[in-house]
Amino acid sequence: MSKLLVFNWKMNPATLEEAISLAKASDQENIVIAPPFVFIEEVAKVLKKARLGAQDVFWENPPAGGGAFTGEVSAQELKNLCVEYVIVGHSERRHKLGETDEIVAKKLKAATDTGLVPILCIGETEEEKNAGKREAVLERQLKTALSDLQLTTNNLQPFVAYEPVWAIGTGNPETPESALATIKFIKELLKNFRISDFGFRVSVLYGGSVNSQNLQDYIKYKEVDGALVGGASLQEEEIKKIIKLI
Ligand code: 13P
Repeated sequence: MSKLLVFNWKMNPATLEEAISLAKASDQENIVIAPPFVFIEEVAKVLKKARLGAQDVFWENPPAGGGAFTGEVSAQELKNLCVEYVIVGHSERRHKLGETDEIVAKKLKAATDTGLVPILCIGETEEEKNAGKREAVLERQLKTALSDLQLTTNNLQPFVAYEPVWAIGTGNPETPESALATIKFIKELLKNFRISDFGFRVSVLYGGSVNSQNLQDYIKYKEVDGALVGGASLQEEEIKKIIKLI
């Protein structure tokens, strides 16, 4: 199966002009681009091959996607903009904005109920890793996120992104061998949750300081279904090299 790369631009770039330029540079099969909400509509217009993603979604989805929730964006509103994928539970939202496992579960449900393909981010902090709690943290995050889910309702192929918090934006990625072991662990957990009973194969991505130099070291493993890329997806030279690798 071909690998998927998700480009998470986070709160970048500052201008629409730059956003369009990045989108054009990244427009290839098996790439998902997740721009800030404000650029989604214009980015959608220039994409021919890459798919469109969003970085977050609100959990309420009243009729027609509207509702009295100042500042939030619904799954239906995203769907109406041709967004197909949505990142849920990114560690920056969990740790900088206080998003809990329960909130992540609600967002995941809103996304799947609306037919958006979820990219559920899970990962341990450095403190948790050092305390030997990595597996326990991943299990808790995964279990809570999936607790409300009825994947039977939509024909979705969900993604989980393993992003160790300490590896994000630090230039200090998890080693490919250890990322592989953790991704195998996550796939075992998913089997235990019997998610495969619904007929879905959950793909698992690695994220955290991925760039053109190290991408191949991760995606060479058949268990690693792709990567979630932050900083490198904002540099056109890096983009050119990265898209040649998939
Ligand atoms: P970096 O690739 O900049 O480490 O960011 C990873 C990430 O958080 C993607 O969602």
